[in-house]
Amino acid sequence: MRHLLSTADLSRDEALNILDTAEEMSGVSAREVKKLPTLRGRTVVNLFFEDSTRTRISFEAAAKRLSADVMNFSAKGSSVSKGESLKDTVQTLEAIGADAVVMRHWASGAAAQLAASDWTDCAVVNAGDGTHEHPTQALLDALTLRRGWSAAHHGPEQSPRGTDLSGMKVLIVGDILHSRVARSNIWLLNTLGAEVGLVAPATLLPVGVETWPVTVHYSFDEALAPDSAGRTPDAVMMLRVQAERMVGGAFFPTAAEYTRRWGLTDERLATLERLRLGETDSPAMLLHPGPMNRGVEVSSAAADSPLNHALDQVSHGVSVRMAVLHLLLTGADDS
Ligand code: CP
Repeated sequence: MRHLLSTADLSRDEALNILDTAEEMSGVSAREVKKLPTLRGRTVVNLFFEDSTRTRISFEAAAKRLSADVMNFSAKGSSVSKGESLKDTVQTLEAIGADAVVMRHWASGAAAQLAASDWTDCAVVNAGDGTHEHPTQALLDALTLRRGWSAAHHGPEQSPRGTDLSGMKVLIVGDILHSRVARSNIWLLNTLGAEVGLVAPATLLPVGVETWPVTVHYSFDEALAPDSAGRTPDAVMMLRVQAERMVGGAFFPTAAEYTRRWGLTDERLATLERLRLGETDSPAMLLHPGPMNRGVEVSSAAADSPLNHALDQVSHGVSVRMAVLHLLLTGADDS
């Protein structure tokens, strides 16, 4: 693996290798464990053209826990405002010593453009490009789902290493149209054997969604009900409504109608609380990539519910990003 641009590029074995490596790293991501020396002398640049809390800080934590040096670049306040190009920016950072560029950009395809160019020899990690992909988010989501699924079926002491998500039914709800998280999750969950359902108003689904490996629902309530085989979702992933990507910040349906029909309201939370993980007694899982719009796509009670794994997702992000940086920069995965 030379770059990480899209989960669509990952085979099942490559995805499992990242997840299994992240499981090994998870002890190191805990506060009490000493750092690993694996990236000593290497430099990771966080190159962010869009705002971020979780992704930027967890890539920084991940790199530091592997003993790498970290440079944080934010387009705001940089020479980008004077017209400096991506090529000149990246070459400047490489001249300062970068070995890997973790890039978030507002343009879909920006990370692929950088990786395909001859501008740099750095490994490129896509930390979110427009509405296209956010591969490390999907990997940390998969780690969270796999831990929950494995613990419910085999107990928390049994390592989930080597297992995929076969048999799991995951519902992704909300603003699919603008969601790079949804796209990366759909490809990765499919590769790992999960069954994926989408729930959204027709106005927030992309053209061509019927060609994706998913089942599309327009009614959240129907999607939470048992299917023809009597199965209910094992996990529900709520997406943020991305008003900033909508023309004039307005979206259709209105915010109130969106919340009533597609939000995880207190009433739907009560339904979710009755659902189970497969045939086990363990509760179904709620995920959200963050940041959450409380009162829009999730009620405050849902956000604060013990079903909500959002903070586990954030913690798992550090070990997943350690695994990705380790595999890319040490060549431990030479595929
Ligand atoms: N989930 C996610 O990408 O969050 P940030 O925008 O805070 O990085």
